[in-house]
Amino acid sequence: MRRPLVMGNWKLNGSKAMVADLIKGLDAELAGVEGVDVAIAPPVMYLDLAEQLLGKAESKILLGSQNVDLNASGAFTGDISPEMLKDFGATHIIIGHSERREYHAESDEFVAKKFAFLKEHGLVPVLCIGESEAQNEAGETVAVCARQLDAVIDTQGVEALNGAVIAYEPIWAIGTGKAATADDAQRIHAAIRAHIAAKSEEVAKNVVIQYGGSVKPENAEAYFAQPDIDGALVGGAALVADSFAAIAKAAAKAKN
Ligand code: 13P
Repeated sequence: MRRPLVMGNWKLNGSKAMVADLIKGLDAELAGVEGVDVAIAPPVMYLDLAEQLLGKAESKILLGSQNVDLNASGAFTGDISPEMLKDFGATHIIIGHSERREYHAESDEFVAKKFAFLKEHGLVPVLCIGESEAQNEAGETVAVCARQLDAVIDTQGVEALNGAVIAYEPIWAIGTGKAATADDAQRIHAAIRAHIAAKSEEVAKNVVIQYGGSVKPENAEAYFAQPDIDGALVGGAALVADSFAAIAKAAAKAKN
């Protein structure tokens, strides 16, 4: 049985006050909600504060990060290492987000190296994949997702996906309000799972595949009603406690 995961990607948003308010609000809203893992990925600057607040509240919310770099220590100005993320209690690390692929020119191969580096350090990669609008219109969605996944599978073996999370995020749906329909998302998730199953049915059966892209409380239920959608990676709606909590509650309800 796959356990649903709803994760908030806060992107470049936050302040000390906002982190404190949002965590307080989420803890209150999520009290008693079972059957779903909930994670937040604040900007790395606020991991320390988030760890302290979650600890104090004895919160069940998992801590994540939005990125990791490829070196463990040394003369790498500006870099962040897996051990540093672990030092602040982060476990779920987003890699390959389309915003990093685009604005930081991160290639499939580079993202795959991050995947291996996280696994090596016992962290959970949340591997984002997804197609652009042009690729979608050209009917290339499944091929693009397969290529992005194969960068990991071909270098590390399909078993590397054990314990990892895949987030299917069509780029045209991110921050646009133009979410994929639940049926379309299900079709792509099933194709992603089938692609993995061709290498290992066991891995495919167990890997959590989240949908991301304009997930809101209003559409969350429809996604989670789909058999191959195991949760969500949420941007904008993750910045509002009751919206994000409503999405997590929808996952708990649909999947249990
Ligand atoms: P939105 O939910 O704001 O569309 O962002 C999705 C996303 O990019 C999460 O990683």
